[in-house]
Amino acid sequence: MNVLIAGGAGYIGSHCVRQVAAAGHRPVVIDNLVFGHREAVAPDVPFYEANLGDEAAVGKILVDEKIDIVMHFAAYIFVGESVQEPMKYYFNNVVSTLQLLRTMHSKGVKKFVFSSTAATYGIPEKMPITEDSPTNPINPYGRTKLDVEHALHAFARAYGLSAAVFRYFNASGASEDGAIGEDHSPETHLIPLAIGAATGQRPPLKLFGGDYPTPDGTCLRDYIHVDDLSRAHIAAFDKLAEPGKVFTWNLGTGTPVSVLEIIRAVEKVTGKKVPYTIAPRREGDPPALYADSTKAQRELGWKIKYHDIESLVASAWNWHSKHPNGYGK
Ligand code: UFG
Repeated sequence: MNVLIAGGAGYIGSHCVRQVAAAGHRPVVIDNLVFGHREAVAPDVPFYEANLGDEAAVGKILVDEKIDIVMHFAAYIFVGESVQEPMKYYFNNVVSTLQLLRTMHSKGVKKFVFSSTAATYGIPEKMPITEDSPTNPINPYGRTKLDVEHALHAFARAYGLSAAVFRYFNASGASEDGAIGEDHSPETHLIPLAIGAATGQRPPLKLFGGDYPTPDGTCLRDYIHVDDLSRAHIAAFDKLAEPGKVFTWNLGTGTPVSVLEIIRAVEKVTGKKVPYTIAPRREGDPPALYADSTKAQRELGWKIKYHDIESLVASAWNWHSKHPNGYGK
């Protein structure tokens, strides 16, 4: 199948591009390179530098490349910034996505894969989180993702769109060969910050909150390897043959891992100490967030390869040691 990957030069998108090709499909990338890295996409993959909201440009790509499925990873992801600058998030994450969907509708492309987030659940009442848990985002980032999910349900009913919605937990790690990996600017994610602290390239880690009601007092999260995550997306392609349906799947391992456990894994894998100080809690951080992803495993035949946190951190370290300055910008 011909697969248009919006945001294919970003962290998760670029890993998905490679998995789409590995599964025998033909990836085509559109990315405006605001956050993406051109180097993250192999030179033989068709690449369009354009905005999703550019309906003429996107429409032409859909037709010229005979696109069957659109996968959408091109969103802003900084929770704190979404509180400060919600306008930016609503326009980029909601308006541009609606423009993309309108273009797809006008060109008769009816299959859509959407990257959503565990942030749609807000502060969940029970753990692990199943897909039918109430959605109640506590920041504009999570809200924009949920707004798009609601639009997908309406478009499925009205226009026969079929969509796969994936709610990610903590996407982490890097490709097994160390060729591509995580390079955000600014970086806010725990694993790259802890690795940077260990190597001395970044300041000592600030551990946000050591007094949570968890076994070691630090937050519990569900770290899912980016290639495991990508493979689930491709496994969903067959489901999209049925018109007018929206599927929702959590993507996590189901294993809660604390911040201190991540620090210990980074120390073991790198052989270096992670200097850190205990800082105040970060606003909006729930004590624990981990997935029940049995639905994705059952319905997609999806298998998690990176169950153990050390192997996941080792893949991040492999990328980092080969690319100490990320993609070099
Ligand atoms: N943490 C620190 N110090 C840091 C960075 C993070 O202690 O410098 C802690 C956080 O408090 C949290 C854990 O490490 O307990 C993981 O934090 P990340 O920022 O790596 O990830 P989050 O769980 O906050 O965010 C992830 C995704 C978001 C998504 C959110 C909710 O990256 O896009 O899950 O689903 F919105």
